[in-house]
Amino acid sequence: MTRPLRDPLHSDLLALAQEAALRAGELLRDGRPADLAVAATKSSPIDVVTEMDIAAEKLITDLISGHRPDDGFLGEEGASSEGTSGIRWVIDPLDGTVNYLYGLPTWAVSIAAEQDGETVVGVVAAPMRGETYQAVRGAGAWATGAWEGERALACRPAPPLEQALVSTGFSYVADARAQQAAIAARLIPLVRDIRRSGSAAIDLCDVAAGHLDGYYERGLNPWDYAAGDLVAREAGALTGGRPGERLSRDLAIAAPPGVFEPLQGLLEDFGV
Ligand code: IPD
Ligand code: CA
Ligand code: CA
Repeated sequence: MTRPLRDPLHSDLLALAQEAALRAGELLRDGRPADLAVAATKSSPIDVVTEMDIAAEKLITDLISGHRPDDGFLGEEGASSEGTSGIRWVIDPLDGTVNYLYGLPTWAVSIAAEQDGETVVGVVAAPMRGETYQAVRGAGAWATGAWEGERALACRPAPPLEQALVSTGFSYVADARAQQAAIAARLIPLVRDIRRSGSAAIDLCDVAAGHLDGYYERGLNPWDYAAGDLVAREAGALTGGRPGERLSRDLAIAAPPGVFEPLQGLLEDFGV
């Protein structure tokens, strides 16, 4: 489904992102081999890639470049080109690969379109939830679901931090994980509870949908957060990194106003 948008370019980019995310989601959901194995490892032996990550990225880049041959790409599985149109696609073909490998349902296809460096369209398809989250810059965020049709996304009203349900994630590198776990251990007595879903893209959309009061993580890559960041912001969340900085690999925080500020301050106090 596509909302009427003022900018026809954004309409086209949204329609293409939706189609690519839907098709890749179907490939991943219906084509998962029963004996799915690890095809390669990346930053550490537990940072895995399957044949399905690679197949899904190829499907997405083939589909998009078939329609828009002058666009650039940044994809987790290697797609990398500059393009000449001013549009660049930032793609995580399978966010939550470890969940997917184990048959857990929390995984997503994440596709963002940047125009002159700013994300203007974000689509996160979560096939095992039967839901797709999407946003267009300045036009809001909404979810389309197999059961519910379309609904606008809006963050939960901010609770006091001690009642906030906060999600986080951990790097694949052992030393970084140990530091992240130490920060989480300091945070957990100060909030309602902590979650670790295994998909950064879904965490950001869960902030947007009001399923979480906040999310933070260090060490993400642009393909993990590009689409989900826009979905969260368009649903009313604040997103950022360290005080005064944008969300980045160094630190990503997303939460409604009222949770964002104290969470950011606490993480800074902890020396995150
Ligand atoms: C990972 C997931 C996970 C996050 C990691 C990411 P992948 O992406 O988003 O939740 O904690 O930092 O690398 O490897 O499943 O695409
Ligand atoms: Ca990812
Ligand atoms: Ca991935």
